[in-house]
Amino acid sequence: MMSVLALAAAASAQPALRQDNIEDVIKAMTLEEKATLLVGGARGAIVEGVTSGHAAGPVQGAAGNTRPIPRLGIPMTYLADGPAGLRISPTRAGTDKTFYCTGFPVGTLLASSWDVNLVQKVTTAMGNEVLEYGVDVLLAPGVNLHRNPLCGRNFEYFSEDPVLSGNMAAAYIKGVQSNGVGTSIKHYAANNQETNRNEDDAIISARALRELYLKNFEIAITSAEPWTVMSSYNKLNGEYTQQSEDLLTKVLRDDWGYQGIVMTDWGSKAGTVKSAAAGNDLMEPGNQTEIDRIIAAVKDGSLSMEEVDRNVRNMLNYIVKTPSFRKYSYSNSPDLKAHARVARDAAAESIVLLRNEAATLPLKGGESVALYGVGAIDFVAGGTGSGNVNKAYVVNMVEGLQNAGFKLDASLQDFYKAYMEYDRASRRLSNANVRSYKFAEPAFPAQAAAAQAARNDVAVIVIGRNAGEGADRRVTDDFELTAAERALISDVSNAFHKEGKKVIVVLNVGGVIETASWKNMADAILLPWSPGQEGANAIGDILAGKVNPSGKLPMTFPNTYFDIPSSANFPYDYQRNAVQQNRRQPLKDVDVTNYSEDIWVGYRYFDTAAKAVSYPFGFGLSYTSFAYSRPSVKAGKDGFTASVTVTNTGKVAGKEVVELFVAAPAGGLDKPAKELKSFAKTKLLQPGESQTLTFNVSSYQTASFDQQANCWVAAAGTYTVYFCASVSDVRGSASFKLARPLSWKVSDAFAAVAK
Ligand code: GLC
Repeated sequence: MMSVLALAAAASAQPALRQDNIEDVIKAMTLEEKATLLVGGARGAIVEGVTSGHAAGPVQGAAGNTRPIPRLGIPMTYLADGPAGLRISPTRAGTDKTFYCTGFPVGTLLASSWDVNLVQKVTTAMGNEVLEYGVDVLLAPGVNLHRNPLCGRNFEYFSEDPVLSGNMAAAYIKGVQSNGVGTSIKHYAANNQETNRNEDDAIISARALRELYLKNFEIAITSAEPWTVMSSYNKLNGEYTQQSEDLLTKVLRDDWGYQGIVMTDWGSKAGTVKSAAAGNDLMEPGNQTEIDRIIAAVKDGSLSMEEVDRNVRNMLNYIVKTPSFRKYSYSNSPDLKAHARVARDAAAESIVLLRNEAATLPLKGGESVALYGVGAIDFVAGGTGSGNVNKAYVVNMVEGLQNAGFKLDASLQDFYKAYMEYDRASRRLSNANVRSYKFAEPAFPAQAAAAQAARNDVAVIVIGRNAGEGADRRVTDDFELTAAERALISDVSNAFHKEGKKVIVVLNVGGVIETASWKNMADAILLPWSPGQEGANAIGDILAGKVNPSGKLPMTFPNTYFDIPSSANFPYDYQRNAVQQNRRQPLKDVDVTNYSEDIWVGYRYFDTAAKAVSYPFGFGLSYTSFAYSRPSVKAGKDGFTASVTVTNTGKVAGKEVVELFVAAPAGGLDKPAKELKSFAKTKLLQPGESQTLTFNVSSYQTASFDQQANCWVAAAGTYTVYFCASVSDVRGSASFKLARPLSWKVSDAFAAVAK
């Protein structure tokens, strides 16, 4: 029988974790236990008699987990993908219950809404599925900047601009975390290509880092406090990001005050100890070797116990926030029906109308539609890889248009279905891998178009693209149309225009494609991106006029791929295959990618150079029109306040996005003609109705990064504020003066790379 004293001593030697006794728990932990907490519980690993959450644990299909230490009341916590919705196994052995999740619109479509309230509403629903399926952290949002349209994961990400991207990410994080679960903003940082993503070394100037590639993370992290940050696979200026003290401690914690944990992306690199020392708290997916490395490093002095305790403290502060720690009794039954409605409405609010000649849209309703394109059936709700959601269903364009009340020309569906069967059989595609396979557009019998034009009211052509993790896109037959697609648009347009009928093109794509060479053949062009499982219904809502489109482009559509500055430093088609070959010399853009375009990304280049584009950043049409009042700008103690009144001058209700760009005074640093500093979207304005939008912009937000001085500077002089419908459509401007220059110091992170 233990004495009371002995019992008390035993209890204090193993205090059960609480919110308020983390230091006691750290004191009570052995070195082995501390190392265990810093390494994920790899797939199927048996940890202290508990099977990891991966294959056999309660949350099957989660991407990873942290390891439990039952002796100290430390539970396992679960980490699952992804940006367009929770990704877990939809079925489980031993039960006929299913665990489907909602496939929401992808990040690029959410950003096209320019509506932070909408994004927060979507991710509040998404976060509810995380909570009710027993997961603690959603491995999202993906926020890497759209440096180049060929990046295979751009659909998961938001924009070419860091202010739009950062504010979308902040809204995303707030929505998910409002459920009491965490997020993991990723991939920190400079993971802007998929080719050789584990090893590619991104060479970026300190200014381009601070003003672009870190700025969206800074906005989101400082305003929304994600529970976790995921470091990326790649190197940055010669060092793996997950091992970079500059990135993980000096910028993230010293400059931005971040309090949460950093986890690696899913790859076990050899530099475990360097990662732990740099401020990477958790190694995922994790293996025993990594635990052993940490223990050995503390024993040989190459890793201090203070560094280990710092990371353990971060982990325990994370764990006590989780539903698993709170023993939340999750239902495994979130309201998927309600969430499907949220997904549909969000897609409709975000889809971009690029072209609408002679008010082709909205259609009257009930028209007979000749629906072309294999993508009408092989519809892409979301991209492939960890960003894909295991959805119960995807509405395709045939169903979406039928649900919207249109009559479809059945002969066309028969043609495409027969082609898909043939193609599938000839490739012996099993059902399993057909899901990620994208059918190429077949040659269409042009002579059939005349009869179809005679018997239908309107033509709708779907151009589809798929992309995903682990591979970048190509220029030919991807960024550019295939020959079959070009012929289809041309033949159908000729036939329908001969009959005085209209042609609508729908771009169901994961990233920017070439449009300049063919857009004039179409009367209308709609851009739903990859709009989620209900996206085709949203497209039907817009074509039928039930919803007035109000989305705007979060990135530039150039005239040609090679107009893009980064096209000179991005893996081209042939280089992608080099990854598998043995190479003696580092290969340009595969082993080392030099961001030599520096800050000249997207509109910062096209607008400043006055280089023509097909569709500019921030562009999007509406079924109505809007007038902007004379704007006002008032300098304050810190920055300025701006306001403008928007009036609906058309005949139908609609929403307008106002984009606020600022031109800093000339002189000093070479700066873009103007940069996005804020934005807002009106409520649904009835015809004749007005709304005043107000913007508050701090001086710091107007600053540029002087890498020689290693600080942010706001130059003295006159600042011009532009009120825009797109970067190229200035509706008004006003100016204010900054009497004296301002500056803001930062840590010496990346100071060494200053050119
Ligand atoms: C992947 C992705 C990352 C994802 C993780 C877990 O490699 O890069 O975005 O969250 O692994 O699946």
